[in-house]
Amino acid sequence: MFYRVIGIFAILILLGACGNKNEQPDFANDIAPLIYKNCSKCHSDGAGGPFNLTNYQEIASKGNLISYVTENRIMPPWPADPEYTHFSGETVLSRDEIELIKTWVKNGMPSGDTSSLEPYKRPERKMFPKGPSMLVKLPTPFRIKGNNTDHFFVARFPITLDHDTFLEAVEFIPSQKRLVHHMNAHLITYDEGKSNQKKTGKYWIRQDQAESVRIHQDLDLLYEDGSYPPMTPSVCNYLPGSQFSYYPHGIGGYKLKKNSAFYLNDIHFGPSPVDVEDSSYFRLYFTSKAPTRPVSEFQIGTLGIAPVTPELVIPPNEIKTFHIKFTVPEDISVLSLVPHMHLIGKKFLAYALKPSGDTIRLIRINNWDFRWQYFYQPPTMLLIPRGSTIYVEGVYDNTSSNPNNPFSPPRQIADRDGSMKTTDEMFQLIITYVPYQKGDELKKLGIEAEE
Ligand code: HEC
Repeated sequence: MFYRVIGIFAILILLGACGNKNEQPDFANDIAPLIYKNCSKCHSDGAGGPFNLTNYQEIASKGNLISYVTENRIMPPWPADPEYTHFSGETVLSRDEIELIKTWVKNGMPSGDTSSLEPYKRPERKMFPKGPSMLVKLPTPFRIKGNNTDHFFVARFPITLDHDTFLEAVEFIPSQKRLVHHMNAHLITYDEGKSNQKKTGKYWIRQDQAESVRIHQDLDLLYEDGSYPPMTPSVCNYLPGSQFSYYPHGIGGYKLKKNSAFYLNDIHFGPSPVDVEDSSYFRLYFTSKAPTRPVSEFQIGTLGIAPVTPELVIPPNEIKTFHIKFTVPEDISVLSLVPHMHLIGKKFLAYALKPSGDTIRLIRINNWDFRWQYFYQPPTMLLIPRGSTIYVEGVYDNTSSNPNNPFSPPRQIADRDGSMKTTDEMFQLIITYVPYQKGDELKKLGIEAEE
């Protein structure tokens, strides 16, 4: 009997020792893999994070802060709800992982055996355009005032070549990596003889200093007669930590006229305490092949092909819900989803109902954060069949308990004719896609395509 009891104790102690691993996490075995995977791509040299998290010293010196930002899901920034849908390149910590970090910090951040642990290294790119490339820069850098506020700009980058050609991909290289928060560029091409390249217009305009129509004129984007040249939306997007990615498998690519321009709509700089200059630029990768499956985009909601109901007006001290509804006229393969709201947006939900009644989940954001506006790419191309209706629901919080409310006391906030001022509101879902072809559902997107 006595031996039986001892035996049971021994088993319990052994079990305890096994279970101990997570109660005594150390840096080398538990924490480094987690931080390297979820944090270091942004918190390393040349990335967007305000400090590096690439080795024991750097990570341990920020231990308490790391524990706080992970527990409150401030970091890693990933607004989409992973319990609703998954996306390519998703960075989300599980409950267990968050607990692990907390325990490690509470235990005094033991390093463990780091003798065979390498500091973080950015993974090699496997996929890269092979053609010749060219840089597109502006003649003068751009000044950002050091007044500790966010700045939103629209901009024009003229492109001048000696012949028409094709673009395989476009890469954006931010110069103030710690300030550039997001960037979305459209490609504008000018017909021969109708060029507008007078180069008299401005290159940059602060978004809240002009209404949207005037912005196009002031940037000198229009033809001389005031008409609009053809525009291909979203040829390039950037966010801290996002890898330059282009569509594989013969998808995408653009015709490039010798007179063209990138129209940045928009570029968001985070707050800076000191005046700085930014000279971000683009790299164009050329190809001799015409695109076989060019990418299209539609936009529903504000300024889009389907309206917001009711009209987007949020009275002061109210929390209000709005809807968008759109029926897809053809079979499409979705490449990316871009939810868009401004400061007082709170929740965003989008799904499609197939004619059969089945639901296709698209995206759910439970706590909208205007600073992290991702181009969400599904892990594989996502079929929405013809006749499906896309439903979008957006909640706006115009009360004084919303810390992002730009007005105190709250004022009425509305979508004023598509004004892009950040203190006005917008409610949009932008979908980039190609017409569906058999087998698209199997094609991986974004970073998944590299694996
Ligand atoms: C997508 C890029 C990205 C990823 C991934 C990321 N960060 Fe950050 N992090 C940033 C940026 C940019 C800031 C600057 C603050 C801001 O603009 O919100 C920041 C700020 C921080 C701060 C300072 C917050 C404060 O209030 O001072 C901490 C701490 C931090 N990150 C830790 C982490 C940890 C830990 C992870 C992984 C679990 C992580 N970050 C993942 C980009 C990233």
